[in-house]
Amino acid sequence: MKAKIALLSGDGIGPEIMVQGVKVLNTIAEKYNHEFIYREGLIGGAAIDATGIPYPDDTHELCLNADAILFGAIGDPKYDNNPSATVRPEQGLLAMRKKLGLYANLRPVRTFPSLFDKSPLKSDRLEGVDFMVVRELTGGIYFGQPSEIDEEGMNSVDTCLYSKDEILRAARIAFDLAGNSRNKLTLVDKANVLATSRLWRKTVQELAPEYPEVEVEYLFVDNAAMQLIIRPNQFDVILTENMFGDILTDEASVLPGSIGLQPSASVGDKTSVFEPIHGSYPQASGKHIANPYGMILSVAMMLDKQFSLKNEAGIIVKAVEEALDTGFGTVDLFPNQPVSTELAGQFIIDYIKRI
Ligand code: IPM
Ligand code: MN
Repeated sequence: MKAKIALLSGDGIGPEIMVQGVKVLNTIAEKYNHEFIYREGLIGGAAIDATGIPYPDDTHELCLNADAILFGAIGDPKYDNNPSATVRPEQGLLAMRKKLGLYANLRPVRTFPSLFDKSPLKSDRLEGVDFMVVRELTGGIYFGQPSEIDEEGMNSVDTCLYSKDEILRAARIAFDLAGNSRNKLTLVDKANVLATSRLWRKTVQELAPEYPEVEVEYLFVDNAAMQLIIRPNQFDVILTENMFGDILTDEASVLPGSIGLQPSASVGDKTSVFEPIHGSYPQASGKHIANPYGMILSVAMMLDKQFSLKNEAGIIVKAVEEALDTGFGTVDLFPNQPVSTELAGQFIIDYIKRI
């Protein structure tokens, strides 16, 4: 097959892990006779430095014309500690999500037996952990208006807004995923306090009869945060709103042993985006220590979900499992015998060539 892929490396370790992701794609292309055509675009701090705008129109055009987007990371400490900065790298990511209509963010979480000792949780809790978080991505408090601080700097407001339609379209994705998995959907909300959460619950309850095979359960977000630690293998598909999803997926990412392993897909109206869930990790940039496996697993997700190349995607996942089983990985995973970002990526390439 032939596909156009937009590469948005972004900030910090983004460019380094992107290099590894593209190498893996090229190896797949060569071995299985595909053609991937890449175009690079600016986003985040890198785009602000070059153009003054975190998500330039050129980048948006590029994304619209691509079959899929591979995304690195975004964020730069020079903005984090400056709350008065009016232009921020994160605005680039949010603008991209909004303009591409990426309303559902799929974040799979699974544990690898060979990494059980890397997790802060006891091994018996990690057995059989394999779930998907569907995080609504273009609504809620991230995008509600007004969002402002008054002139005196004494009061501020953020608005959390959800329409029934926004909930429905994300919920349908979650129900479909549950139907193709273990038929269990958990809606995480704060319906005992928030009006938006009550709308989520009502909407999901109304939709549930369309999916009779899916068992639906409701959890308050504070309890869900606890359940993720106590008994993470109870979950199949978790559906939740934007900010709860942001927080819970960082929490869940420690289960496998490193956030550096977690891939994601953002899907919606236009081109889908595939990206590792970790951030730009600026302290690591240029040091050759960034874990490329989250990016490489995002490449696998792209091949599987966007291009239906199940076999190729499966081989990449197997390669990462093999690396983990052999103890071959970056310092976040194997502090006693770490390898560089480049060598970790090379392991995957060699495996694909060999298999
Ligand atoms: C994520 C990130 C972003 C978010 C930031 C960088 C805006 O944390 O993708 O999870 O909060 O959505
Ligand atoms: Mn986050």
